[in-house]
Amino acid sequence: MSNEQGPVAVITGAASGIGRGLAEHAATLGMRLVLADRDAAGLQALCDQLQASGVQAIACVTDVGDVTQVERLRDQAVEHFGGVDLLFNNAGVMQTGFSWEITEAQWQRMLDVNLNGVINGIRSFVPLLLSQGRTAHVINTASLAGLVSSPLMAPYNVTKQAVVALSETLHYELAMLGAPVSVSVLCPGPVASEIMASNQVVDTAGSDFSQLLDSTIRQGMTPAELAAQVFDAVAQKRFWILPHKGFKPAFERRVQSILGETNPQFQMADVEDDAHAAR
Ligand SMILES: NC(=O)c1ccc[n+]([C@@H]2O[C@H](COP(=O)([O-])OP(=O)(O)OC[C@H]3O[C@@H](n4cnc5c(N)ncnc54)[C@H](O)[C@@H]3O)[C@@H](O)[C@H]2O)c1
Repeated sequence: MSNEQGPVAVITGAASGIGRGLAEHAATLGMRLVLADRDAAGLQALCDQLQASGVQAIACVTDVGDVTQVERLRDQAVEHFGGVDLLFNNAGVMQTGFSWEITEAQWQRMLDVNLNGVINGIRSFVPLLLSQGRTAHVINTASLAGLVSSPLMAPYNVTKQAVVALSETLHYELAMLGAPVSVSVLCPGPVASEIMASNQVVDTAGSDFSQLLDSTIRQGMTPAELAAQVFDAVAQKRFWILPHKGFKPAFERRVQSILGETNPQFQMADVEDDAHAAR
């Protein structure tokens, strides 16, 4: 049905950075787009730009941390396009600082957006995808922080590692059912975006770290390059999407540390190597 007119992709966090890159790439593939973000102005600007070039797109202002709004997003997608083929749970925010200096409200914001946003997406959309009885794909944006922890990013590491665990679990569950719904988890290193604008710097040590992180992200892979890799992986139904290969030694050290029961050691060079590997 809907595929005759191009698959329908729902993208959260579409107004900026990675989500915007995914939307622009999806448009080149002839997809119909349901664009979601809590930034109403940025979302409308993207939607206008895509519609002006003939893309079928709608803008749905959505806070992914609010399940009612995510259910409304699903209903808008169905009302407008009749169904959903791809769901990108992509919206996310940053928080740096010592774990114990980050306030309760700041921790809660990270849990609400980065983790509950993905949970809300899965709970609202997967029943629909299953009921459609056709192939569909869920892509959750985690991060390299979902695989390797670094200091001064506790809420980010915690939420992204939870998104990796949630994605693996969902993958196993859909396989148990033999459902035609596939899952991918996207774990990028630095990608040039506005994410550091969402960082609420609290701290003593954290401000230097957040400046380093900001410059590493600004020098990162472009969202367009990332999006091309993501859609290739989706076409291959690949679960792990790891666009930055430079992190692998850090991940190997982590696994060796766990298996050998030796204490973990963080090396800042791993983060910087990833930025270089991305160029
Ligand atoms: N940029 C990187 O280096 C990088 C690396 C790994 C993972 N990521 C992840 O990629 C995803 C996209 O981030 P980005 O780097 O493109 O950042 P970005 O700030 O450029 O874009 C994020 C978008 O999400 C939106 N958003 C934030 N909170 C929201 C909410 N509650 N509801 C709806 N929309 C919301 C913002 O308005 C923004 O448009 C995030 O999950 C982030 O953690 C980014």
